[in-house]
Amino acid sequence: MPEATSKKAAPTPMADALIEKAGRRDALFGIVGLGYVGLPLAVELAGAGYRVLGFDISERVVDGLNAGRSHVKDISDEQLAGVVRAGRFEATTDMSRMGEPDAISICVPTPLSKFKDPDVSYIVAATEAVKQTLRRGQAIILESTTYPGTTREILQPALESTGLRVGEDFFLAFSPERVDPGNPTWQTRNTPKVVGGITPACARVACALYQPAIERLVPVSTTEAAELVKLLENTFRSVNIGLVNEMAIVCDKLGVDVWEVIEAAATKPFGFMKFLPGPGLGGHCIPIDPHYLAWKMRGLNYKTRFIDLAGELNTEMPLFWVRKVAEALNLQGRAVRGASVLVLGVAYKRDIDDIRESPALDIIRLLEGQGARVSYHDSHVPCFTEDGHEYRSVALTPEVVGAADCVMVVTDHSDIDYRMVQRQAKLVVDTRNAMPKEA
Ligand SMILES: NC(=O)c1ccc[n+]([C@@H]2O[C@H](COP(=O)([O-])OP(=O)(O)OC[C@H]3O[C@@H](n4cnc5c(N)ncnc54)[C@H](O)[C@@H]3O)[C@@H](O)[C@H]2O)c1
Repeated sequence: MPEATSKKAAPTPMADALIEKAGRRDALFGIVGLGYVGLPLAVELAGAGYRVLGFDISERVVDGLNAGRSHVKDISDEQLAGVVRAGRFEATTDMSRMGEPDAISICVPTPLSKFKDPDVSYIVAATEAVKQTLRRGQAIILESTTYPGTTREILQPALESTGLRVGEDFFLAFSPERVDPGNPTWQTRNTPKVVGGITPACARVACALYQPAIERLVPVSTTEAAELVKLLENTFRSVNIGLVNEMAIVCDKLGVDVWEVIEAAATKPFGFMKFLPGPGLGGHCIPIDPHYLAWKMRGLNYKTRFIDLAGELNTEMPLFWVRKVAEALNLQGRAVRGASVLVLGVAYKRDIDDIRESPALDIIRLLEGQGARVSYHDSHVPCFTEDGHEYRSVALTPEVVGAADCVMVVTDHSDIDYRMVQRQAKLVVDTRNAMPKEA
């Protein structure tokens, strides 16, 4: 059974030493996985006064970071170069250096397998690397989103197989990352951070380590609770997006403007939270994380119905919108086959460059499958490769817009001149309500 941190914490000398080091900022922080999550965390910790040693398996990522070049949009080259120059951040591919840091945060990917089951192989690989050099006095904190039980069932036994004891010799916690790429208001520092430890001492150590860099820490009683917090947050979004996507289908059948209905409903000052429909889910979190929970619960003979239904609805949205393109072309006497469709935006959300799980990829595949000639424009994504086919963003000129049989707004990037699109396009299918409204 999970141990509760609410029990009277039994301080250990190792924990106190680490907490004191954190207070003096002379702990060395290791970050494993320097992507969308790991790099902002590393820069925030370095900015708070820690020295940070970043680990990544990609030489390209490591070489770029050591040269002060950021591959993550939320971190500017200046920010990164500042902490590199100050000697507070260094990146390496040399996993044998894992013994150096006092604290190690693991921020590696947690994708799905081909059959939509959790793929924790990156967590396992990172844990193995940590294990090789695990020493007394280290704190290990898993940040990757995963199913409840991962920290206790995968990390703890692997790390304790060294003979060291959790909560006494080393400390183990789970603290989910909540980064929202492209969000100008909520960043690593001012977004409250949930922490759950395997033992009370583990939780105390993890909170003390993050405290200089994060404004508000939210301790919970177990690692399982912390793991589930993240899955609840993302399942909440998936279910509510599923609901408004269903509302979009309902409104379409009723001939009602779904966005007008939602905006009006959102004037209710209590008991309603605004979610918006769209072309489907994207990104590394919301389309994936609920599957982690559904998988875990299947193993406990429980079917997560809300999660499954929302997943179904959200996955069907690209097809719904491709049907809208077909209907719109049909009204103009055209078939999808042979029509040229210009897709505006392929990133999974506004003003970012991430195309992972983007519904635009499904939409392009579906349109091409029906014989359309598809091009795209996205200033954040100059090119990408999908199914071995390379796509390049076209310039968004009045001529290009005017030449397309249909323009489809898939991502509502703020740098697109929607008025020009409205003036020039023969036909627009807008999955995001981005087009200007007629007076
Ligand atoms: N991207 C988001 O918005 C977001 C938000 C909250 C939580 N998360 C979660 O955070 C985790 C990381 O996501 P991300 O978006 O930062 O992924 P990412 O793909 O951007 O970065 C992961 C990095 O880890 C590196 N890596 C892989 N295996 C490694 C290993 N064994 N040792 C060292 N480095 C390794 C990769 O080379 C890559 O640079 C995931 O669990 C994700 O669900 C992501």
